[in-house]
Amino acid sequence: MTTSCPSSGPPARNGADAVVLGRLIDFSGDPAALGRVAVRDSPGGALALRGGRIAWAGAAADLPADFADTPRRDYGQCLVLPGFVDPHIHFPQYRIAAAGGRGLLDWLDRFAFPEEVRYADGDHAAAAAEMFLDLLLAHGTTAALVFSTVHEEAADRLFAAAERRGMALAAGKTLMDRGAPAALRDDAEGGLRASERLHARWHGRGRLRYAVSPRFAITSGAAQLAAAGEFLESHPDALMQTHLSETPEEIAEVARLFPDAADYTDVYDRFGLLGPTSLFAHGVHLSARERERLGEAGSAVVHCPTSNAFLGSGLFDIGPYSPEAGAATPRLAVATDIGGGTSYSLPATLGAAYRTAQLRGRRLAPERAFYLATLGNAEALGMETEIGRLEPGFHADLVVLDPRATPLLAARDALSETLADTLLALMILGDDRIVRASWVAGRQLHPKPDDSPAG
Ligand code: GUN
Ligand code: ZN
Repeated sequence: MTTSCPSSGPPARNGADAVVLGRLIDFSGDPAALGRVAVRDSPGGALALRGGRIAWAGAAADLPADFADTPRRDYGQCLVLPGFVDPHIHFPQYRIAAAGGRGLLDWLDRFAFPEEVRYADGDHAAAAAEMFLDLLLAHGTTAALVFSTVHEEAADRLFAAAERRGMALAAGKTLMDRGAPAALRDDAEGGLRASERLHARWHGRGRLRYAVSPRFAITSGAAQLAAAGEFLESHPDALMQTHLSETPEEIAEVARLFPDAADYTDVYDRFGLLGPTSLFAHGVHLSARERERLGEAGSAVVHCPTSNAFLGSGLFDIGPYSPEAGAATPRLAVATDIGGGTSYSLPATLGAAYRTAQLRGRRLAPERAFYLATLGNAEALGMETEIGRLEPGFHADLVVLDPRATPLLAARDALSETLADTLLALMILGDDRIVRASWVAGRQLHPKPDDSPAG
């Protein structure tokens, strides 16, 4: 098979200083706002990695003499990007993708909730965490914001597995005190105490962060949403994740449960859940008022296109999230939403976002799409000074993509003239086969080397 990444000898010893050679691609901002100056496309580029971070980036020909004897990993014509960031994914749903339901609420009752009940067993959760994180890495995702289950120990097991890999992971125990099987319910007080304990154990430890995680307004009553708001007020650097305005049936149920709220966004707003560290998954059916309020608060809306298509939730419109839309626009992020979503691959998810945009009469330029999957999603998580770029000082979280990974991609690549052509082919035709390697903090974790901490 044709490949752009011929192997070039044994990899550098994992964790030691290394020089990575390839075609460097990254973004200094949103190309839709800044234009081409926001895009780096450097064939023949080099990254010098030291102590888990990028120490130097530039043209291989200009590599400083300090790194002349550093072991090299040469990826040839392959693309070297910052590792992908997935800002909305469910760890306990890691194996239920492609479970057919009649829509979100039916799917939750018949597939998601019964599967999540199994995570009461810590050993089950521990084994699932290994699988889940390996799947992320196999798809080029090196950082994520993750929903766990209601069980405190399941979240502990997930954090521990991410810590062993050195990954930048934000996660939280799901808060859910009604509208779910008894085995998955907590209560406002108990849920808050468990969140506090998890925050104390994991937030700020290595690259881990805590996210207070009320599932959505159907499964958390007023007391629990208020407790989540208090948590966020007392821990302003923690993240907040929830679901918002995914399907018409869900929106109607929220209106019935909170008759005094102006709309769905207002339910969360009343409890202090909007803010610059808050991420709202879906937002398919938001009104202009809701978008404006979310934008004013500095929150992010997380577009989950494969999930919206699979569950029949609706066609998200990226139009209002263009830079011309003005300052009071929420930040846009793009995520897989496994297991409502159908692919772990961020490039494939960008392909789904592209198709959804086409159906809405919009266009998602490939460079903007890859900006979103890297720096854009890092910005939504408040991690943009640590991950999402190939600059000195950033963590050495990398993904290596092969634009000729399959016979079809190789044939298609022969016709590509621009970076946009190459990226669009990867988005529309790519999956885990395009991922040649994933590096976390300067160590290649996929494919698993012999000395991998998870190996
Ligand atoms: N809304 C509340 N919970 C969920 C979930 O697990 N998946 C999706 N897609 N939407 C939700
Ligand atoms: Zn979700």
